[in-house]
Amino acid sequence: MQFTVAIDGPAAAGKGTISRALAAEFGFAHLDTGLLYRAVGAKGGDPETAAQTLTPEDLARPDLRSLEAGQAASRVAVLPAVRAALTEFQRSFARRTGGAVLDGRDIGTVICPEAEVKLYVTASAEVRAHRRWLEVGGDAEQVLAEVRERDARDMNRAEAPLKPAADALCLDTSTMTIEQAVAEAISAVKAGLAARKSHAD
Ligand code: DC
Repeated sequence: MQFTVAIDGPAAAGKGTISRALAAEFGFAHLDTGLLYRAVGAKGGDPETAAQTLTPEDLARPDLRSLEAGQAASRVAVLPAVRAALTEFQRSFARRTGGAVLDGRDIGTVICPEAEVKLYVTASAEVRAHRRWLEVGGDAEQVLAEVRERDARDMNRAEAPLKPAADALCLDTSTMTIEQAVAEAISAVKAGLAARKSHAD
């Protein structure tokens, strides 16, 4: 069975937690596509070459979760050649047998416009910065400024900007518990699986 769940949204909105919960609930494979861009940014050198030659070791670097790696990822992600080099890998992951959840910025809009379920997970910049600050510490104002800077770059770039797909279900997690957000996402996937089954019958 091929079944794709596309999850997009800004940094620290809860995409990763929701994606992992869906993958565990339904037995789907999960790809955090932000990690690909983080690995390209961290590799250094020419970003296009880095994207074309990514290895599993590049994706296993321990420093990919830092704020700096997030900023570097957002900067290389504006380059069309970098995005093009990463497209095929993401598309074939999405169509693998057994179902897949991909989270990122352009999964429902560009990578998998045919995904069976699309979610747009968001929260206010203040809430997201606070969550990030709880993880990384440091100066709270600085963390908020970095969240806003990355949002602006990811949403305003010419190539595959962050925006909800027209048919995405929007989940604003600003005032939700993680359990509520996961429960809504699980219901959306169950509805998608049921719609697909009735289509096939
Ligand atoms: O999801 P993340 O914070 O790990 O993503 C890091 C950066 O990578 C993000 O600021 C923009 C870029 N990115 C992208 O352009 N497209 C994706 N599908 C995933 C991430």
